[in-house]
Amino acid sequence: MPESFIYLDNNATTTLLPEVADAMGEVMVLPYGNPSSPHSIGEGTRGLIEEARKHVAELINAEPEHLLFTSCGSEANNQVILSGLNTSGLNRVVTSSVEHSSVKNLCENLESKGITVEFLPVDSTGLIDLEELEESLKLNKAFVSIQWVNNETGVIQAVGEIAAICRKYNCLFHTDAAQALGKINIDIDSFKPDYLTITAHKINGPQGVGAIYAKNVDSLSPLIISGTEEFGKRGGTENLLGIIGFGKACEIRKRDYNKSILKMAEYRDIFEGIILKALPELKLNGSTIKRVCNTTNIEFPGVDGRAMMGQLDNLDIICSQTSACLSQIPEPSFVLIAMGLDVEAAFSSLRFSFSSLNTLEEAEQAAEKVIEVYKKIKSLFNY
Ligand SMILES: Cc1ncc(COP(=O)(O)O)c(C=O)c1O
Repeated sequence: MPESFIYLDNNATTTLLPEVADAMGEVMVLPYGNPSSPHSIGEGTRGLIEEARKHVAELINAEPEHLLFTSCGSEANNQVILSGLNTSGLNRVVTSSVEHSSVKNLCENLESKGITVEFLPVDSTGLIDLEELEESLKLNKAFVSIQWVNNETGVIQAVGEIAAICRKYNCLFHTDAAQALGKINIDIDSFKPDYLTITAHKINGPQGVGAIYAKNVDSLSPLIISGTEEFGKRGGTENLLGIIGFGKACEIRKRDYNKSILKMAEYRDIFEGIILKALPELKLNGSTIKRVCNTTNIEFPGVDGRAMMGQLDNLDIICSQTSACLSQIPEPSFVLIAMGLDVEAAFSSLRFSFSSLNTLEEAEQAAEKVIEVYKKIKSLFNY
């Protein structure tokens, strides 16, 4: 790993905040018991988990008893969709064509097992058509799972309106809010989804811990069957350190919310502005109006994004092309393809995502390097 680098891949994961690491470190050296144990040491550990649950709940304005911890956002998405089908007895899922692979691949797997899945298309800005959703639900009831914020483009779906449509047709609604947490003011009460899923490592919390909000916790069925942990809905001894870190990261984001999102938006906009001023031929992928504060996805026409990414990496600028979990597959982004880009344009695109730990200098320096690398590669191939 280089000693110093500019990290602009925060939609893949973020660096732990020092305060989060401290909170985890403090707990690490405690003589902690199993949170399910009925003795005082176990109760002490359980108290720490409940404190963390309260902080996570507060960031999304939910009641703590509606939140349960999982090992990650992917597990949360899997459990919610499988539970939703189980509880409702439905055999139909409506989702979008730009979901994270933990929803997309699960839905494809369900399809192969005889569940009907409708993957709603998106337009060139990355948004689903609400009328199309309504038409679909009018015809047949379904379990609906639509992400809040796209991990590659930062495009924000209209979850408030989607939830209302689902209620109108008596359909259960889940939103994957992994990329919305801490970047959008999530207020469960304002749109009342049936389920919402989040993960800690997108807001400078630890990797390997996620959570499910469920309006009706009893409607969840466990993926891991064991004892009474997490209301009997998620077996296995809890990831205490991860949960402590998640709670701390949420507490800090709630405290610093306005400052954090303004900072991310400012640096993303400065970065984008410098690049587009120097290279007006570049295109931004996805809506720039309905877009989360930290992400930009840029198409560099005629240049292979993977080559650019490698060159930037050599200059200690870290960015990405698709989500981390798909980066090992030599295929173009299915999200960009769903938005109508051709294969070449998709391969020519790069995602840059900021966190509250980035600085103004980093945004400016990274933008200059991006311009330099793009011009260099272009000149090599005499475009
Ligand atoms: C939109 C979205 N959903 C779900 C996940 C999965 O979260 P986790 O990495 O905790 O499994 C991610 C992570 O990249 C994501 O971006």
